[in-house]
Amino acid sequence: MESAMKTKTKFYFAPMEGVAGYIYRNVYHEHFHHIDQYFAPFISTSPNGISKMKEFRDILPENNKDMCLIPQLLSNNADDFILAAKQIKDIGYHEINLNVGCPSGTVTSKGKGSGMLLDIEKLDHFLYNVFENCHRNNIRLSVKTRIGFYSPDEFEKIIEIYNRYQMSELIIHPRTREDYYKNDVHLDVFKTAVQKSKNPICYNGDIFEINDYKKITEEFDGIESVMIGRGILKNPSLIENIIDDVPKPDLQKIFDFHDQIYDEYKKYMSGEKNLLFKMKEIWLYMVHSMENSDKKAKKIKKAKNIYEYESVVNEFKREA
Ligand SMILES: Cc1cc2nc3c(=O)[nH]c(=O)nc-3n(C[C@H](O)[C@H](O)[C@H](O)COP(=O)(O)O)c2cc1C
Repeated sequence: MESAMKTKTKFYFAPMEGVAGYIYRNVYHEHFHHIDQYFAPFISTSPNGISKMKEFRDILPENNKDMCLIPQLLSNNADDFILAAKQIKDIGYHEINLNVGCPSGTVTSKGKGSGMLLDIEKLDHFLYNVFENCHRNNIRLSVKTRIGFYSPDEFEKIIEIYNRYQMSELIIHPRTREDYYKNDVHLDVFKTAVQKSKNPICYNGDIFEINDYKKITEEFDGIESVMIGRGILKNPSLIENIIDDVPKPDLQKIFDFHDQIYDEYKKYMSGEKNLLFKMKEIWLYMVHSMENSDKKAKKIKKAKNIYEYESVVNEFKREA
């Protein structure tokens, strides 16, 4: 592939529950072509395995054709995890990602997501069981983690635990659970991770512009991959911008992408209300790639039906 910028680094599409389900990912993949791996939003495990059809549908291979997808599990029970992992293997996957990052209170209060970081002995025990079992069953595991629950200082001990296991990758969002999405990412802690990790490291967090990408890949020369989430929701052409070294979002491509995703959601969503809810959620992020968007953003938020919605989208297009 020819590119204006030297990019050995692989690009991963972050799991984003509620926003980036298979329809979003498929349309994105058709319009923008540089993602090496997509990560599916988390599926919660239960003693009965994966029982919700909606969750299965999101990772079914026929719904994720021509792309590399890694399913993600949210769990703190090794037996439940192993059962779900086998179900996922049975539909054709050989790699699974474990969520040790989700900061939501309803998740952490159950000791899941970043809540696993509150008791690292328990985390170690859980990892021992799932790694042992998954390796025996030829399932590779990667982990997506925050750097602590309360404080970045916790990471020294956390990385010692992770180093006991052979992961296909350790994906680090260098914030604590307490940081949520506030405060700056702790690049000093990420540096420690790069120095100490026995597993390949992927960087994740706050890559919104070309310069954010340059800063990370220049400062951490050895990292093999970066994962991007909100930066893509905001500017779906971000990775092309990075590769071509073009600072501005490609609005024409973004509108084409929008039109197709709107058509797809029209086919799959039941009722205008759900369709509008879904599109408004996308625009919450995407308005930030458009100039002078404040008034139109408010109009999108307030749109009561698809006619009002389409009229604001047309305004965006006219003024682009
Ligand atoms: C709407 C939304 C949903 C998310 N859902 C998940 C999820 O299902 N699993 C997960 O590991 N992280 C989830 N995340 C976290 C992202 O994958 C990512 O780690 C985080 O947004 C930081 O990366 P970014 O700054 O590139 O967005 C979610 C984030 C957002 C904004």
